[in-house]
Amino acid sequence: MIDKATIDRIQDTAQIVEVVSDFVTLKKRGVNYVGLCPFHDDRTPSFSVSPSKNICKCFSCGEGGTAIHFIMKHEQLSYYEALKYLAKKYNIEVREREQTDEEKVLESERESMFIINDFARTYFHNLLYTHPEGKSVGHAYFKERGYRDDIIKKFELGYALEQNNAFSAEAMRLGYKKELLLKTGLVAGGENQGPIYDRFRGRVIFPVHTLSGKVVAFGGRILRKADKLAKYVNSPESEIYSKSRELYGLYFAKRAIVKEDRCFMVEGYTDVLSMHQAGIENVVSSSGTALTTGQIRLIRRFTQNMTVLYDGDAAGISAALRGIDLLLEEGLNVKVVLLPKGEDPDSFARKQNAESFNKFITDNEVDFIRFKAQLLLSETKNDPVKRAGLISNIVESIALIPDSIKRSVYVKDSASLLDINEKILIQAVNKIQLRKYDQRNRPTQTRTNSPSDRGAKPSAATSSPQAPSHKEMQVGMSRKKLRIDNIEREIIRYIVRYGMTMIFQRFEKQKQINGKQSVEIDVLVEEGSTVIEFVHFDLERDNIQITNPLYAQIFEEAYRESANEDFQPARYFMTHTDEQISKLATEMLSDRYQLSKIHSKALGEEHNDENSKLLEQNSLEELIPRTTTELKNAYIMQQIAVVMKKIKEAQKNDDFETTMKLLQEKQKLEEIKKILAKMLGEQVILKY
Ligand code: CTP
Ligand code: MN
Repeated sequence: MIDKATIDRIQDTAQIVEVVSDFVTLKKRGVNYVGLCPFHDDRTPSFSVSPSKNICKCFSCGEGGTAIHFIMKHEQLSYYEALKYLAKKYNIEVREREQTDEEKVLESERESMFIINDFARTYFHNLLYTHPEGKSVGHAYFKERGYRDDIIKKFELGYALEQNNAFSAEAMRLGYKKELLLKTGLVAGGENQGPIYDRFRGRVIFPVHTLSGKVVAFGGRILRKADKLAKYVNSPESEIYSKSRELYGLYFAKRAIVKEDRCFMVEGYTDVLSMHQAGIENVVSSSGTALTTGQIRLIRRFTQNMTVLYDGDAAGISAALRGIDLLLEEGLNVKVVLLPKGEDPDSFARKQNAESFNKFITDNEVDFIRFKAQLLLSETKNDPVKRAGLISNIVESIALIPDSIKRSVYVKDSASLLDINEKILIQAVNKIQLRKYDQRNRPTQTRTNSPSDRGAKPSAATSSPQAPSHKEMQVGMSRKKLRIDNIEREIIRYIVRYGMTMIFQRFEKQKQINGKQSVEIDVLVEEGSTVIEFVHFDLERDNIQITNPLYAQIFEEAYRESANEDFQPARYFMTHTDEQISKLATEMLSDRYQLSKIHSKALGEEHNDENSKLLEQNSLEELIPRTTTELKNAYIMQQIAVVMKKIKEAQKNDDFETTMKLLQEKQKLEEIKKILAKMLGEQVILKY
């Protein structure tokens, strides 16, 4: 971990104009600079760089942020790597955060495991070229399959000897510890499971690289068909390897993926190799299992466009159909290419060159939804029952697409394809979306906020507790929940932008006698409080907690840090060690979010950026209490809905007593609602 002070220093030193200029030609325009956006196909300069704010932003595609974010996106680096990059550029010494003893042990263990994997990769690879068995068996196998040496070397393929302890003996001779060898999974057995032995024996080896090129695992393929043995043996999950977070080939593909703005998805190791050999490098493999959200998000950093290649047989098709829904859900544009019968990408690529392969893809790729519709259509023919099933199947997929514009295009497309009224499709899609939203927000389901989604290491945010007292209220309250989330976001935006601004201070002019003269001076008669203090106090008073874990973390940290008078929330969160927080804060600080959507109505519609910024700054004393009241109001509405539901149930069961009790409860809530509504009404007295 790089410590906070260093991140601050990097952020201060890195001049956004300088950093961006390394990659984009900038022209001065007014106080800002503009250039062609490097993140989308830009014809007119939409990429704006603001030296004063030290951030950049594309007004067309929305990409941008601090120098750190720019480098992350442009160079496809992690947050940590981008910081290192900038530190190097500006000669800043990187101080890593002091680790706890526990972290130190874990870290050094991880480091050692990487070192062992490094050793193993070199060891297995060298055997191919130096050992008689490696040459005659391992290397010969790859040659027989037609792999060139440049590909074997690039992917660092290797061979494990056909002995129980060849690798472990050599590793231990060189001083690598048995416990750590076991931890990496390269060696198995030990203690009660008997003597230790090498996991990979008599197999060709495929190292699995992380995004930054470190080896975290290995796959070993058997050489000949054998009934009893699995075709592949893979490293087990470990401290450094989580299968669901890696994609085979991504390290070698990332640049090509960005360049082509598209990623090919194939099933196996050998498919990746053969396509590279044919000259197609933007390809990754899911290693034979269903894609995970974590994997898809890895790809989404580089492109939105995914083309899935698979064999034309029935099993291949149905497997692919299952995996694709997740891609749609994550907002990717998905196309599919069906290869000729009997071919997989590996065998097909070996018969093609890059040009002919690409031509085949262009000629045969079909948009996924369309593909699915056509496929199912041909299966159902004129059977009305099956046809109904088909429609709901398509609708399910469309409902997954997060972008509403894309969704409506698909609805139109499918309506004409399936010969069905568009309105009916829209209704069906909406219904499913609502249902999905409810399911996602049901408290019994722990949300998959896994560490992989939030950077390499779990941070405090992932573990920040959801307010338990609200649990009951959240049952099935989809739209109300969404509203609460929006209001919470709004509150966090105020915290980030104006957290330490004083509000509700009152001064009075008082006369003071200064010698013979009487002078008027301003005297503080009401202490007031910072925005952070106010919000904290106001929410705590009514026992309201921020439910969104990310917002909750920001809120808690802001409150903690605000004990220090010099605390600068904007700066602090923009350079936060948690990438997600830093990104969110930067977004909240950029002009687009100047005036909240919620409040632009209250303040009147017409204002330009500068105007609205001033307006907001001057209206904090009205805006902030209004927002906290809105949050309370949203909670009450949610509670009322829950009670109403319970009342209905009780009535259905003829449970008179419970019904009465609930009605009383509802009455109380309604009263609170009235008070809040009155407060909200009174708070709109903005005279701008
Ligand atoms: N796989 C695995 N374990 C198995 C079988 C398959 O881990 N027992 C994974 C591997 O990552 C493999 C992928 O699933 O690459 C696809 O499987 P398959 O098509 O059978 O293997 P290929 O890699 O295509 O190997 P080959 O071309 O040599 O048959
Ligand atoms: Mn295969």
